[in-house]
Amino acid sequence: MLEPAALTPHDEKALQALIDWWDEAGIELDAPVTRLKKRPAPAPAPRPEPPRQAPTPQRTATPAAAIAAGFGEPEVKGPSAQDAAAKADSLDALEQAITQFDGCPLKRTARNTVFARGNRDARIMIVGEAPGRDEDEAGKPFFGRSGQLLDKMFASIGLAEDALYISNIVNWRPPGNRNPTQDEIATCLPFIERHIALKAPDILIVAGGVAAQSLLRETTGITRLRGQWRDYALKQADGSDTGQTIPCLPLFHPSFLLRQPASKRMAWQDLLSLDDRLRNS
Ligand code: URA
Repeated sequence: MLEPAALTPHDEKALQALIDWWDEAGIELDAPVTRLKKRPAPAPAPRPEPPRQAPTPQRTATPAAAIAAGFGEPEVKGPSAQDAAAKADSLDALEQAITQFDGCPLKRTARNTVFARGNRDARIMIVGEAPGRDEDEAGKPFFGRSGQLLDKMFASIGLAEDALYISNIVNWRPPGNRNPTQDEIATCLPFIERHIALKAPDILIVAGGVAAQSLLRETTGITRLRGQWRDYALKQADGSDTGQTIPCLPLFHPSFLLRQPASKRMAWQDLLSLDDRLRNS
């Protein structure tokens, strides 16, 4: 009889992530899989991430209201995001352009510019919404609790961190973990569109309604969009369409799944759809 091959530490980690995810998604595990021992001790719990809050009316209304709220007039120094993005001809140049950009008021209250994490050569690019507290501190996207769940979700279909490249629609943390406003999204959009064009992934994953609606120019909510493959229209440096598209899969945002664990079953179906696509492409 064939002996099962010994697992490398990397395989064990991926398998444990798969088991954890299945456990959390409420999926029944087969006996041979459950024989794997559970993690000895849970990793120290990251600090709880407060759910995103809707923007306060002061932040969404007018520049005058923003001044009254103590944020100052959103003065734009230097080039627009579109001009700055257009000049960047590499991911390094784009990171530098975003770090130097002063046209988004969120930068004033953020500790760090959050650009990307993961493998620049990965086939898959994931785009989320905006950095939270942990991401702001680390300067890396999806670094806190929702990032840990995101990693687990992808590990569950065999995609470890080096198979992914991750960024956000907005590069600075909205104060108090509120949602980014439409103005803030519109300001940062040329950056993420250039980011996607320079990265040129084979597959784009949009995590949550803000990313899905902004990049796909959709008004449909994420509950209806999730799991439906769409074509993302690749942009030229000036922001116009190239005519080329990338397959794009909207997923529930991991922060939403942390609050609504029952929806993990649907997220699992969507991950299987991604797995299927990867195997057949
Ligand atoms: N939520 C996001 O959308 N992005 C992050 O980087 C962290 C939390």
